[in-house]
Amino acid sequence: LSISQLSPAEFSKLVLNASAYKQATKAAFAAGPGQVPRTLDGKLKGRTVAMMFSKRSTRTRVSTEAAVALMGGHPMFLGKDDIQLGVNESLYDTSKVISSMTSCMVARVGPHSDVADLAKDSSVPVINALSDDFHPLQAIADFQTIHEAFATKPAHEASLGLEGMKVAWVGDSNNVLFDMATACVMLGVDIAVASPAGYGIPDRMKQIILSAADGVAKPGKLIETTVPEEAVKDADILVTDTWVSMGQEAETQRRLKAFAGFQITNELAKRGGAKPGWKFMHCLPRHPEEVDDEVFYGPQSLVFPEAENRLWAAVSALEAFVVNNGRIL
Ligand code: CP
Ligand code: NVA
Repeated sequence: LSISQLSPAEFSKLVLNASAYKQATKAAFAAGPGQVPRTLDGKLKGRTVAMMFSKRSTRTRVSTEAAVALMGGHPMFLGKDDIQLGVNESLYDTSKVISSMTSCMVARVGPHSDVADLAKDSSVPVINALSDDFHPLQAIADFQTIHEAFATKPAHEASLGLEGMKVAWVGDSNNVLFDMATACVMLGVDIAVASPAGYGIPDRMKQIILSAADGVAKPGKLIETTVPEEAVKDADILVTDTWVSMGQEAETQRRLKAFAGFQITNELAKRGGAKPGWKFMHCLPRHPEEVDDEVFYGPQSLVFPEAENRLWAAVSALEAFVVNNGRIL
C-alpha cells in the first residue's frame, strides 16, 4: 500500500528485479517478435488481476495491463462507472466479492483509507495504484530510473548503491513525494523539499517518512524549505509533479497563484547551484507551469525512461505480491 511497508532490502530488490526483467524482456523481444523471457512467461497463467480505478490514468493503467499480459494473465479493467467501488455498495462487500474471483486487486482511489479497507477485507493481495497519500508503483519505477542513470557502486542487499545523492523536490507535497521521500530516507539519499508556505509535508506524513530511517545505518536526510534555490543546491536530480492533483481541481486558481516562482527551469537550476550533469524527473502527467519545455524535453530529462519503467515496476510488484505471495525474492 505504501513504500513504508517495505524494508530497504525489500524495496531495493523490487527495483533490481524490475531492472532485470526490463533487460531480459528487451533481449527476448530483440531475439524475435512476441518472445517473452522464460522467466516471465506464464507466471500469471489462468489468473485475473482486477484493476479498480476510480480516477483517470494513462501510465498506471497501461503498465499494469501490459505487465499482466506479459505474464500470461488476464487484466480486468474496472473503471468508476463499471463497478460499485464504494458507491452503492460497501468497500467490504466489494472486496469480499472481487477477491473471491480474482488473484489480485490493483486499486486507484481517493482517500487512502479506501485502498487500506479493500486490503483489510480481501483474500488476495491488493496493490495501491495511487491514493491521495501514496503512489508506491511510481516510487519503484523512479528508483529504477535513478539506479539506471546514476548507480556507480554495485547494489548490495539493503540498498541500491545511491547513498550520498541528493534529490530536490520543487513543488507540491503530495502522494508521489511521500513514497519517494520514504524511499530516499531508507536508501541514504538526501531529499530537499521546497513547497510554498502552507503546502509543505503534513506532520503525519513526515512521521511516516522519517520512520523509514529506523534501523538504517546512514539514512537520507529530509530537508524542508519554502525557497526553491535552497532545495536545488548541490542536487543530482530535480523532481516535480503537478501542482493540482486529481481531486483538487476546485483549488486550481488558488494553487497556481501560491506556486508562482516554483517552476523548474534551467535558470532555477543554475541560480540554485544544482550539480553539473543534474537530471530531471516527473511522474507525469505534466503541465508546463511546474516545468518548462526546455527542461522537460531537454537532454537532462529522464521522464520518458521513467514512464517506461512503470511497466517493469508493475511486473516486479505483481511477481512479488501475486506470484510469490509477498515474498520479494
Ligand atoms: N504517473 C502516473 O501514475 O500516471 P497516470 O496517472 O497516467 O497513471
Ligand atoms: N499527484 C498526482 C499524481 C498523478 C500520477 C495526482 O494525484 O493526481
